[in-house]
Amino acid sequence: MSYGETTETHGRPEAYEAPRTDVLPGTDGVFGGKLGPTGRPMPTFPEPAPLTSHGPARIIAMCNQKGGVGKTTTTINLGAALAELGRKVLMVDFDPQGALSVGFGVRTNELDTTIYNLLVERDIDVRDVILPTPTDGVDIIPANIDLSAAEVQLVGEVAREQILARVLRPVLDDYDVILIDCQPSLGLLTVNALTAAHGVIIPLECEFFAMRGVALLVETIEKIIDRLNPRLQIDGILATMYDGRTLHSREVVQSVVSHFDDKVFHTVISRTVKFPDATLAAEPITSYASAHAGAEAYRQLARELIARGGAA
Ligand SMILES: Nc1ncnc2c1ncn2[C@@H]1O[C@H](COP(=O)(O)OP(=O)(O)OP(=O)(O)O)[C@@H](O)[C@H]1O
Ligand SMILES: [Mg+2]
Repeated sequence: MSYGETTETHGRPEAYEAPRTDVLPGTDGVFGGKLGPTGRPMPTFPEPAPLTSHGPARIIAMCNQKGGVGKTTTTINLGAALAELGRKVLMVDFDPQGALSVGFGVRTNELDTTIYNLLVERDIDVRDVILPTPTDGVDIIPANIDLSAAEVQLVGEVAREQILARVLRPVLDDYDVILIDCQPSLGLLTVNALTAAHGVIIPLECEFFAMRGVALLVETIEKIIDRLNPRLQIDGILATMYDGRTLHSREVVQSVVSHFDDKVFHTVISRTVKFPDATLAAEPITSYASAHAGAEAYRQLARELIARGGAA
């Protein structure tokens, strides 16, 4: 069966029993009215109109203190998919591991200035730290291991939670979307990301303990809304590394939907080795394997985010 073809069972949970390599769930239910992988009718997400001008940016933090859930992969590929739609995207690497920077081919150990310098020094222009990436329409503020010192250094600062917001302010009008790739922790750096952001996307791996820690994350977000950033909202919860052939993956998605209801994106990202392959090649999947269903999934996520008002 090829992408775009419908069958009698298409879209019903049974349709995901058989191993399918050609179509990823979340990309194949776009015909309207049929059930998608989250068990809800799958709306269609039309291609948005091109923008006639750019900015001010909406800032989105990619956040989950659990490691390895797809934060960096989602930042790279959602950003690239938004750029394909003509959106100007700035990515902020906010993890001392620098995985986002490496994912765009930045040699992180050779950098003179990174997000770290912007946070701890006052006289640096953010535009001097922003690097273009090989992906059209995508720029990046890189990070490297230096950033691991920031958390301790910033503790004594005045308004220590608002430093990233201040760093980004001068370039808000240059971009349509700013995506912040957070590290797996709820420390001061992540608090800075949530304080700077308009929205937060929470990737959840479709695994047994996916929901563990999410209550604490939501509680943290609520505290930040209450004390630091009243405009912050949860843009959506994204199920990643989904394997529709397993009952287990489907059950995890069902439990996430029963907890979070329409906060859960209709788009679901399947598990495929193409993602680590693309990372090794230092490219978004949208260019590394442009026709692959994984690329289509992130394009659909970009359209869904725009349709929900999460991006311009
Ligand atoms: N949908 C997917 N299918 C298969 N592998 C994936 C998928 N998404 C991400 N991965 C792989 O899983 C690993 C973890 O993903 P990623 O780095 O995006 O997670 P993360 O949440 O940013 O991790 P960390 O918390 O360490 O920053 C990486 O090797 C990545 O290539
Ligand atoms: Mg990461």
